[in-house]
Amino acid sequence: MKNFKRTLITSALPYANGPVHIGHLAGVYVPADIYARYLRLKGEEVAFIGGSDEHGVPITLKAKKEGITPQDVVDKYHGMIKDSFEKFGISFDVYSRTSAKVHHETASEIFKTLYDKGAFIEQTSEQFYDQEAKQFLADRYITGTCPRCNYEKAYGDQCESCGSTLNATDLIDPKSVLSGNKPLMKQTKHWFLPLDKYEPWLREWILESHKEWKPNVYGQCKSWIDGGLNPRAVTRDLDWGIPVPVEGSEGKVLYVWFDAPIGYISATKEWTPDWEKWWKDPETKLVHFIGKDNIVFHCIIFPTVLKAEGSYILPENVPANEFLNLEGDKISTSRNWAVWLHEYLIDFPGKEDVLKYTLTANAPETKDNDFTWKDFQTRNNSELVAIFGNFVNRALVLTDKYYNGKVPQRGELTEYDQQTLSEITNLKIEVEKSIDTYHFREALKNAMDMARLGNKYLADMEPWKVIKTDPQRVETIMNTALQITANLTIVFDPFLPFTAAKLRKFMNMKQLDWKELGRTDLITAGHTINTPELLFEKIEDEAIEAQVNKLLETKKVNELETANVSKAKDNIEYEDFAKLDIRIGTVIAAEKVAKTKKLLKLTIDTGIDTRTVVSGIAEYFEPEKIIGQQVSILVNLAPKVLKGIESQGMILMGENADGSLIFISPSTAIRNGSEVR
Ligand code: 2FM
Ligand code: ZN
Repeated sequence: MKNFKRTLITSALPYANGPVHIGHLAGVYVPADIYARYLRLKGEEVAFIGGSDEHGVPITLKAKKEGITPQDVVDKYHGMIKDSFEKFGISFDVYSRTSAKVHHETASEIFKTLYDKGAFIEQTSEQFYDQEAKQFLADRYITGTCPRCNYEKAYGDQCESCGSTLNATDLIDPKSVLSGNKPLMKQTKHWFLPLDKYEPWLREWILESHKEWKPNVYGQCKSWIDGGLNPRAVTRDLDWGIPVPVEGSEGKVLYVWFDAPIGYISATKEWTPDWEKWWKDPETKLVHFIGKDNIVFHCIIFPTVLKAEGSYILPENVPANEFLNLEGDKISTSRNWAVWLHEYLIDFPGKEDVLKYTLTANAPETKDNDFTWKDFQTRNNSELVAIFGNFVNRALVLTDKYYNGKVPQRGELTEYDQQTLSEITNLKIEVEKSIDTYHFREALKNAMDMARLGNKYLADMEPWKVIKTDPQRVETIMNTALQITANLTIVFDPFLPFTAAKLRKFMNMKQLDWKELGRTDLITAGHTINTPELLFEKIEDEAIEAQVNKLLETKKVNELETANVSKAKDNIEYEDFAKLDIRIGTVIAAEKVAKTKKLLKLTIDTGIDTRTVVSGIAEYFEPEKIIGQQVSILVNLAPKVLKGIESQGMILMGENADGSLIFISPSTAIRNGSEVR
């Protein structure tokens, strides 16, 4: 293995269009944080880089939907994400964002350098264009019918019903999201990175020189390369992003996946003026922590950009994880199927490490894994509380009880004592081996084995019994147990930093370097520990049930939303339709119909006359709130007496999936009596 001087750790920049969830944490931030903390404890030079990814089409769509600007969207979520990472204890050296000035400058410069070197090819192609909005349409701005499954709301890049990847041109009956019109095809120029030209180099660099990369990462790279690489467009027609810094490119921005990874460089610049040593010195080891959907961008496209630029180092490793599911279903921001970090922090205050523990113990390192609340509870109650917590508590309580909190002298060690103590060093070696090869799950298990070791030691030695017969022997037992406890403050420091700090406080110890781990004299006789407290608390069933219920609620809402829309009725002739006389009218009076739950008596100005309509909408509208509401009314429906009131016509309503109703009213006010056709 090559020896490096320092390590540059990057973690995927989360999109600032939603909060962070457990999938992000398990896949990227928790392992990256463990790695950063571990190297720092070893006294190595480390930079741990994070930031928000603030460009791209989904952010503009979200802004449009909410009637705010893209900058408003990213401001909101960047703040929220940064704050929750901080509270959760992800120890970034810098957490930046891609709307920062330094990032715009850095990404522009790199693009310009490549452009000047002639590294891009320029290509004109036909793309969908919305004539009314005067704008080219990104794939997500086009919807239409899926050619595979006939789902009518498929996007230009994907059908969310059958999951097919699509080209916008595949859609049947495409429509612009902006105007609803059928888009036209129009010529547009873009810049492409000719990945095909770099194929021999990529093959050599990854497939020959990085065989040690995780099989999931190596395998994906191999299949991309073997499948034949094509030029990739690095610009887009969009008004949100970094303007393309060359003449004649008005209305074009850098593709979000071109600028986002450059965000790692800009963030480093923001952090230190000495950024070049981190990015340009071959003695820096660059490691990208990402999820599996980011592999091609970090292993193929970004390295090609850096290679083409010429002065940057390349990643030494990209330990990408697979996905974490939640209670058997894919985590989804749009379907709200997630455990959100900011909510967890409120629901489980002081239990940051319990989540870190569960996510690491169950990390999706080699395959997709499932998070369940039941497993979370079991990991806490049967592992953290019953093993780690139990051991520490016994060690502290007995020391307090027998020696008034003063660490007792160690007498002669038995063979079993010696074996136990030397096992600490063995475990240290195991943890190191595991972390050095990015097996964090195994590493945590190795650390937990040290707590298990202590727990078993006390259970086997039974000092609470021996104290009656051989109190001197108990001094040695307790001294040994406290040495193990002191070692636990070090070995858990990278994984469970809040817990390690708490335990140091109980032990009245300072933070120790990793190199001290394995020493059997970390704590000297006579040292006073603090009054014992519990390291972990049991999590009760009620807390778990509350979380499960929250998810069940979400499921219900989602089911209603995706509930099948009823099929169209049989065709009718135009003459049949033309018989309906539908007008726009205004509600001028409304009251409940006595002794009914559902009925309102409405007085409507139809423009033709003023008339009474009895309508079954009382469950959804307060009478006094709908005065002045414009409605669509079928005026030539034969009158009918309902609860003794003659109803003259029918108000048209739209029905939501849950049965609730909304008025079908004109989008802007219109004269009463206007015909609806
Ligand atoms: O997949 C994502 O969430 C992207 N925002 C990750 C970007 S990583 C890096 F390139 F910035
Ligand atoms: Zn489909």
